[in-house]
This record gives sequence, C-alpha cells and structure tokens, in this order.
Amino acid sequence: MPSKTDLPLPQLDNVPRHIAIIMDGNGRWAKKRGLTRLAGHRSGTENLRRIIRACVEFGVQYLTIYAFSTENWGRPADEVEGLMHILEEVIDKELNDLHEEGVQLRHIGRLEQLNPTLRSKVEHSVEITKENHRLILCIAWNYGGRDEIVCAIRNMMKDGVKPEDVTDELVSSYLFTAGIPDPDLIIRTSGEMRISNFLIWQASYSEWYVTPTLWPDFDREELYTALSSFSQRERRFGKLSDSENELIQNAD
Ligand code: IPE
Ligand code: IPE
Ligand code: MG
Repeated sequence: MPSKTDLPLPQLDNVPRHIAIIMDGNGRWAKKRGLTRLAGHRSGTENLRRIIRACVEFGVQYLTIYAFSTENWGRPADEVEGLMHILEEVIDKELNDLHEEGVQLRHIGRLEQLNPTLRSKVEHSVEITKENHRLILCIAWNYGGRDEIVCAIRNMMKDGVKPEDVTDELVSSYLFTAGIPDPDLIIRTSGEMRISNFLIWQASYSEWYVTPTLWPDFDREELYTALSSFSQRERRFGKLSDSENELIQNAD
C-alpha cells in the first residue's frame, strides 16, 4: 500500500517560483504531547526534509525557511544551544543527500555570532552546493529583516554610494538575499498573523497563507493546498486587474 504521502496529486498551475516559510509552532506541538521544546524542534526539522522533497516535486525553484531569528537569542540558553546543535547535526547528516539531490544551500543572516565550527560548516555547505540548481534552499539563521537593512545601509555608506544612486535595485543588491527573487508566497504555520522581522523588504508584494497547523504537522498535502490557494489569487501590484483593463479599453 502506498503511504498517504505517495498519492499523486493533480498538476498545479502557476506554481510560485519562490516560497518562504515561517516555520512556527514547534514549542506548542511539543507541549501538546508532554515533550520538551527541543523535541518539538527536532520534529520540525524532520518535517523540513519532507517539505523540501515536496517543493522539488511541485516545481518550486526557491525555498526560504525562517529557522532562527535575531530575536530568538532571547530564549533560554539551553534552547538556543539546542537549536545550534540541531543545525550542526542537520548539516552533518543531510548535506551529502541534499547535494546529491541537486539542492543549493544559501544562508541569509549573520554568521559572526555563531561558534567557529558551526560557522565553517555553514560556509562549507554553501560552497560545495553552489553549482546545484534543482532547488535553492535559503536558510534564514540568525536573520532579522531590520538587521539586514542596517547591514545594507552600512555597506552602502562604506562603499561611498551617492544618495542619488540609491534605488530599489541597489538596496536589493546589498541585502543578504541579493540575486534571489522576492518571495511570491509566504506561509506561516501555527496561526500567528505577524511577520516577526522576516524579509520585511522582500515581502512588499508577497501573497500570504497562514494556517493554524503547527509546523511539525504541516505536510505535503497542506503545502499543495497552499499552492492551490496561491494559483487562484490575482496579483495586481497596485494596478488594475486584466478584466478591469479590458473593460476600460472596450469602453474607449
Ligand atoms: C518555531 O517554533 C521555531 C523557532 C522559532 C526556532 P517555536 O519555538 O516558536 O514554537 P512556538 O511558537 O513556541 O509554538
Ligand atoms: C518566528 O517565530 C521565527 C522563526 C520561526 C525562526 P517566533 O516564534 O520567534 O516569532 P514570535 O515571537 O511569535 O513573533
Ligand atoms: Mg513561535
């Protein structure tokens, strides 16, 4: 018997090129089961593997995941240490498979505050996968949207950029996400309706999908539901819809 996750799903139209996910709710998932918060983070990490596979299956080109924010340093020290340890374990265990599957790893955020071993493991993962193009997986770790903009302004000033040369495109090129298209769809699990300092510049015209499902339970079928919802949206970017434009042209 094929498992539920093997069942074929109808072809999707208009698959977003770039999905970004705020993977929230690991703590609540663990609490409901009488487990530790770290057990929730481990379960969330296992789920990520499934979602990466589903993104490849559905034809998503870029997946950005919010895994550790600049504000998450404010959590108890053992949770922060545990999260750093989980990242290191994931790199040790999964890097070869991800590389073989054609996943390119990118990091957004600051590496300076990480311990030197973890930092060099992240740098190594980015380096060895840089020629892969099946899925670009961008890991937001020690990432904050405001911190990213502060870094960009500092670097522009260091480079002596003239005020009249500052444009949307130039600012984008100074962000951690330089070269990555803006997210088409942002998914937040666990029902919270906020941005929590994630991609505040890049999300200017992203579509949102918020679900009460806690991250460890967010599966391939629900990702498919999110993508189906996206495929029915009309993105106007401040302009009029195609049908409204047609009516106006016909009236002229
Ligand atoms: C998201 O889950 C993972 C991280 C922020 C690292 P949480 O740990 O925020 O889970 P809740 O929100 O407490 O349920
Ligand atoms: C956002 O979740 C950060 C990550 C998922 C890494 P949080 O749980 O930290 O956000 P708040 O505190 O609910 O805004
Ligand atoms: Mg949370």
